[in-house]
Amino acid sequence: MTSQLHKKGEAWSARFNEPMSDLVKRYTSSVFFDKRLGLLDIQGSLAHAAMLAAQEIISQDDLAAIRGGMAQIRGEIERGELEWKLDLEDVHLNIEARLTALIGDAGKRLHTGRSRNDQVATDIRLWLRAEIDGIVLLLATLRRAMLDLAEQHAATIMPGFTHLQVAQPVTFGHHLLAYVEMFTRDTGRMQDCRKRMNYLPLGAAALAGTSYPIDRHFVAKELGFDGICANSLDAVSDRDFAIEFTAAAALVMTHVSRLSEELVLWMSPRVGFIDIADRFCTGSSIMPQKKNPDVPELARGKTGRVYGHLMGLLTLMKGQPLAYNKDNQEDKEPLFDSVDTVVDTLRIFAEMVAGISVKPDAMRAAALQGFATATDLADYLVKRGLAFRDAHEAVAHAVRICVDRGCDLADLSLEQMRADLPNVAALIGDDVFDYLTLEGSIASRNHPGGTAPEQVRKAIAAARAGLA
Ligand code: ARG
Repeated sequence: MTSQLHKKGEAWSARFNEPMSDLVKRYTSSVFFDKRLGLLDIQGSLAHAAMLAAQEIISQDDLAAIRGGMAQIRGEIERGELEWKLDLEDVHLNIEARLTALIGDAGKRLHTGRSRNDQVATDIRLWLRAEIDGIVLLLATLRRAMLDLAEQHAATIMPGFTHLQVAQPVTFGHHLLAYVEMFTRDTGRMQDCRKRMNYLPLGAAALAGTSYPIDRHFVAKELGFDGICANSLDAVSDRDFAIEFTAAAALVMTHVSRLSEELVLWMSPRVGFIDIADRFCTGSSIMPQKKNPDVPELARGKTGRVYGHLMGLLTLMKGQPLAYNKDNQEDKEPLFDSVDTVVDTLRIFAEMVAGISVKPDAMRAAALQGFATATDLADYLVKRGLAFRDAHEAVAHAVRICVDRGCDLADLSLEQMRADLPNVAALIGDDVFDYLTLEGSIASRNHPGGTAPEQVRKAIAAARAGLA
């Protein structure tokens, strides 16, 4: 009675006494998202088939038929002609069924010594590996765009902030280089993740390995893996790489989000440090005057979904006993969406950064407010023999007097300054004003990692060399 249920289009009906309900089919199927793995599934199958033939587990004729059939299916997928069937649950069974429809029995032999468990683990690794390579290139493009802008503004002065209060003058180029550092670390994390995940699960079969005389190293080499997963149970159940990638992606988004927050702030008319090209902004449906930085705002918002995916994947794995469980099918959508979000965001940001126009006058005016060179005055006194704490106190006193008068330190005459700071008056010479200027302040921070234009240019050259 089971045989009548084993009708075309159902994957394993012979074992079952009743068909799956439509609701359960929809619930358990993954084809409408994992069809995205189609071409890589074929690549994995071809490597597996070549190994089966080399090991004389299937015939050369079968291999030739499988290759011919897969070439046809690849074309069908690329042209959008393959009809994906919900009844066939996932990408693997859809492709296998299509192959068998095209070439007959040879198609039925492809799955010898293999399970969908090691098949899907292989497919995702192949897929993510390629995506990581793309993300590394996009990060390089973004870093280049930021370096170009930093180079133009290696000497453009802006206020540096702590607690969002004016702290000390920095150059805009230096500020941008901070983000280049972040995106450089992100690149390293992506490459690191790729290195650790580049091992072949195939051969693990369902969980315990297989009794056929397979050659896993052959398949690993064929697919460009650095080696094979050493334990079959781990091979089919490990999703560390998905979590590691998503954690790295979450950090990319953290950095993008911090940059976004600054872009929004800098573009606000109250600040007015930059303008973002119109093509990255939107207007308001009611307020005709508005030009809103929607792209950075959205990127800041989308960061949340990647964080969510990271938490989702961690939670997905935490309760699973070894080895494969169907839970693992839930790895794909968060992973796909994390990749899509990061890829789109990086692409847009590289273009948007290149389209930023800077308003040095507004930056300079802001740096002149808030006593940004007070530390420089303290350092001046220290260099003339005062202990730093005493210098700090003396300058704090001078700042307070200036606040009351509504002027800046640099506005004081030498006589005024000496009169205001009687205890240290003897230490203050004419040259003090060189230290109080914005230019003097940034030029003095002339060591590796400092904001002096000379150092910024050196750092840009070093970063460019690292990108080459
Ligand atoms: N679609 C499944 C997944 O994504 C493939 C593996 C299914 N294996 C199984 N034994 N149900 O994980």
